[in-house]
Amino acid sequence: MAMPKENVRVLISQEDLERRVAEMAEQVNRDYSDAGDSLVCIGVLKGSVFFLVDLLKRLTFPVKVDFFQTASYGSGMTAGEVRIRKDVDLPLRGKDVLLIEDIVDTGHTLRTVLSLLRFRGAQSVRLCALLDKAERREVEVQIDYCGFTIEDLFVVGYGLDFDERYRNLPYIGVLETSTEPDPPSPS
Ligand code: IMP
Repeated sequence: MAMPKENVRVLISQEDLERRVAEMAEQVNRDYSDAGDSLVCIGVLKGSVFFLVDLLKRLTFPVKVDFFQTASYGSGMTAGEVRIRKDVDLPLRGKDVLLIEDIVDTGHTLRTVLSLLRFRGAQSVRLCALLDKAERREVEVQIDYCGFTIEDLFVVGYGLDFDERYRNLPYIGVLETSTEPDPPSPS
C-alpha cells in the first residue's frame, strides 16, 4: 500500500524571520518607550513561544511575561468556539498588554482572547502576530504588528506544528504530502 510522505518546503527562511522580527521589535521599542514597566507581554501557547522569545530578547526595556493557552474545535464544540485551557496569572488591571501570537487564521481564537484581556481591565491591548492568513478570516481582528501576510497554506516550523511535530524547525515551511508507491518487496 502507498504511504503518504510529508515534505516541508521553505516559505520564510531563518534569515528573513530574523530580519523581520528585529524590525518588529524596533517598532515595539519605539511605541512603548514611555510605558515604564507596565507592559505585559502575553504569548498564546504553544505556537508563539519561538517568536515571543526572539522578539522579547530585542526589547530594550523591562517587560513582564505570561501565557495563555486555548483549545478550539474540540469534541463537543462548535466551529469557532474557543475554550481557555490556561489563563494568565498576572493581574492586568491598568496594564498595557501586548498579545503575541504565531498566526491569525479565522480570527476566532484572537477575538476571544482579546476581549477577555480587555474585560480584565487592561489599559491597552495590542496584537503582535508573526503570520496573517488574511484570506481565511471569518471575524475581524486588528493586527497592530504583523510579520508576514501569507497565502492560505498550512505552515509549520518556528513554533507552528502539525500534530505536535515540526515546531523546532528554524524556518516557516509549507507541509506538502505526496503519495509515493512503496518500494518493491524482496522476492
Ligand atoms: P484561528 O482561531 O482560526 O485564527 O486559529 C489560530 C490558531 O490555529 C493558531 O494559533 C494556530 O495554532 C492554528 N493554525 C492556524 N493555521 C495554522 C497553520 O497553517 N499551521 C499551524 N497551525 C495553524
